Amino acid sequence: MVMGKGGVGRTTVCATLAEVARHRTLRTLVIEVDVHTPIARGYGVKTGFRPQPLTDNLFAMLLDRRESIEEYLGFVVARPILQAVFASNLYQNFIQAAPALRELMMMGKIFHEIERRAPALPPWDLVLVDLPASGQALAMLEMPLAARETFGDNLVGREAAAIARLFRDRDRCALLVATTAEPLAVAETLEVSRKLAAVGLPCQGVMLNRVSPPPFSTADLARLERSPGRLRCRPTLIAIARKALNRHERERRAAVMLRRLIGVPLLALAELPGRTNRELAAELARTLDPQASARADV
Ligand SMILES: Nc1ncnc2c1ncn2[C@@H]1O[C@H](COP(=O)(O)OP(=O)(O)OP(=O)(O)O)[C@@H](O)[C@H]1O
Ligand SMILES: [Mg+2]
Repeated sequence: MVMGKGGVGRTTVCATLAEVARHRTLRTLVIEVDVHTPIARGYGVKTGFRPQPLTDNLFAMLLDRRESIEEYLGFVVARPILQAVFASNLYQNFIQAAPALRELMMMGKIFHEIERRAPALPPWDLVLVDLPASGQALAMLEMPLAARETFGDNLVGREAAAIARLFRDRDRCALLVATTAEPLAVAETLEVSRKLAAVGLPCQGVMLNRVSPPPFSTADLARLERSPGRLRCRPTLIAIARKALNRHERERRAAVMLRRLIGVPLLALAELPGRTNRELAAELARTLDPQASARADV
């Protein structure tokens, strides 16, 4: 599951991991919460509430808030009763007023996709979830445990407990937090990782996105500054060089701080401008797993 502040690159991280996985021939499902389904769209596929193939080994589905409640209830309540429930004003008002229930059902749907797949369907080797931005993602992740406590030992409570257990199983689930080196994103990453640890779901890796390539060294800049000023554009060059160097230094410090304060592995993803989202994911995947592209070439 990938979470992080809005716009930092959660979807890009998911799409990149999906690329790595499919090159490793893992049967992979990407679950998108964003109704625009940017990952599936990158493959030119319109997804829905059931997994759809994107390409070899790779499938995607949309986890719609409303649809997932109704589909999920379908697993536990008899169909005819369900139709009457959905049609009732009471249910409609309840759903509007109970966003927590929506979040629980979304987690329930992910759980079902992993644990309760029909026996005829092959299991997934990997399920990637592109979670919403931090606030809503935290609400979703906290919900099963809260529901377990609220509902106690009945059907809903037992389901919630099973969901909470799966997402806390470190051998099976990992939460990655995506961020950039921007101060606000770093601050939110630290806060989110504290909150995740508090609900027993510690972050297991940080993806530092949009890292600039090492431009040159401070020694290069000093040499440029000392060089005889024949070029008219020299001051501009120096200003550009200094800016790039400062940015790189900011990113290096952010990486050191995140590693030290969160204490989990950190992977850097380069900023690669001017690509479509699909090209971006493919190129980032090659930087993470060069063997994957070699295998793909074969
Ligand atoms: N490493 C990168 N290099 C270049 N562009 C990038 C990189 N990572 C992300 N982007 C671009 O930044 C934009 C936001 O990225 P992305 O959609 O992955 O973020 P997000 O966290 O999923 O955003 P949202 O909160 O809207 O869901 C996209 O247009 C994407 O192409
Ligand atoms: Mg996104």
